[in-house]
Amino acid sequence: MKRFHQAKWYEPLIFEMGYTNRRGFYVPFLDKTLKLGLDLKKLIPKELLRRNPPNLPEVSEGKVVRHYTRLSQINFGVDNGFYPLGSCTMKYNPKVNDAVVNSNKVHFIHPHQEESTVQGALEIMYTLSEWFSEITGMHRFTLQPSAGAHGEFIGTLIMRAFHKERGELDTREEIIIPDSAHGTNLASAAMSGFKVVVVPSNEKGCVNLEALKSVVSDRTCGLMLTNPNTLGLFEENILEISQIIHDVGGLLYYDGANLNAIVCKIKPGDMGFDIVHLNLHKTFSTPHGGGGPGAGPVGVVEELDPFLPIPRVEFDGKRFYLDYNHPQSIGSVGGFYGNFEIIVRAFTYILSMGISGLNKIAEFSVLNANYLAHKISEIKGFNLAYGMNRLRKHEFVISCSRLKVDTGVTAKHVAKRMLDYGIHAPTIYFPPIVDEALMIEPTETESIEELNRYVEIFSQISKEAYMNPKIILEAPHNTSIKALDEVKASHPRTMCLSWRMYKKQQKINTM
Ligand SMILES: Cc1ncc(COP(=O)(O)O)c(C=O)c1O
Repeated sequence: MKRFHQAKWYEPLIFEMGYTNRRGFYVPFLDKTLKLGLDLKKLIPKELLRRNPPNLPEVSEGKVVRHYTRLSQINFGVDNGFYPLGSCTMKYNPKVNDAVVNSNKVHFIHPHQEESTVQGALEIMYTLSEWFSEITGMHRFTLQPSAGAHGEFIGTLIMRAFHKERGELDTREEIIIPDSAHGTNLASAAMSGFKVVVVPSNEKGCVNLEALKSVVSDRTCGLMLTNPNTLGLFEENILEISQIIHDVGGLLYYDGANLNAIVCKIKPGDMGFDIVHLNLHKTFSTPHGGGGPGAGPVGVVEELDPFLPIPRVEFDGKRFYLDYNHPQSIGSVGGFYGNFEIIVRAFTYILSMGISGLNKIAEFSVLNANYLAHKISEIKGFNLAYGMNRLRKHEFVISCSRLKVDTGVTAKHVAKRMLDYGIHAPTIYFPPIVDEALMIEPTETESIEELNRYVEIFSQISKEAYMNPKIILEAPHNTSIKALDEVKASHPRTMCLSWRMYKKQQKINTM
């Protein structure tokens, strides 16, 4: 087993590195201006002048480059190695997509530019929306939402607008969500002012139809569902589920976080869904794991078209333009037209994959997940949640409860020990219906060698747990940062998210 050691740098914050008046970049024009004794403030248009200059660190260019290179070395990303973080679809993203996004034509356009000067950008947005409609079976898309959760929120606002239009909003106050759902589904429904009704899963890990029938009524606004679900199981009764919801006048929302498993094989529209969000930062080539910028476009069936956000990108046969004239729209839901660079990355990805490439995504992601699920569940201490008798789609959930009973090693310990072998940990303790859960999503971009290495690591960890659990209980050993104090790391009182917060805290500590 190859050993892994992450770089170790005791790196200060960039704010702690600067010296007064040290500069990283000289602008010749400014230097000349200062030498001539001209007042810079008079040269800058008033509306662009800041009242207070930003508090930036004063560091040289070399220092900045070294600082961020070192930080990157104590980080882990999908370009470093295997990253099977369940439900996050951390696939390898081809660099050609970044090259296009980083071109000046994309990088330097501005949302305030005249429409005639951004026809190419508008065409990209228009075309991508059409492709998404084709992929999902929806009528029309908005690209504005910035994340999956944002898409869900907008989707539930559209549900609201639809029932309001029909004069039923006062009574339709419940959104039904399965107990295997992602937490954002519940949060989005609640944020839009709905009551959440949770339906339990059955013994097969799918929606319990009898339970569903017992909770639907004329109070039902709709149902939110991801298919395949978070156990990686396809909801085979989806058509019946859709019928049950539509029969009581509700709408069906598709959480597209798991689209990677079905893209170009089956359309959510054909399953009966009325609203769909896609996570471009999963299926369409932007990494998801670190919480960076994303995009969660929302598509709807024709009946819900009037409620989509504005502006829309339209084409009149000659030119592309922004259309604000939709009085029933829920309004604008993001800065300008969405995260344009993420949109361009998805556009490039789809173009470069072509139909034949897109067709392979689901095939290989499902193959890889099932290969791993079978191999790992043969290893002592690990069991495939909800049994071996059904194929998984793109991901699967392993329970470590046997391992915990036998050795005291929990899912969290297994995840931390994984880091010592130079791979990212799986998602843990999710979905909450599985005891000691490890949720694993290998994606389509990993080779058989990488998958076999992963299986070897599981075998090794199993051996360690049964023979020498201490090594796992104290892991990680080979990473730049050892086990964190998790309470401290996530408590709002101790978490420092900005330099200003850090300074404030230092002040409090020295008082
Ligand atoms: C099943 C599921 N739904 C929704 C989301 C929310 O997506 P986002 O993180 O883009 O807000 C996630 C995120 O991982 C997810 O896995």
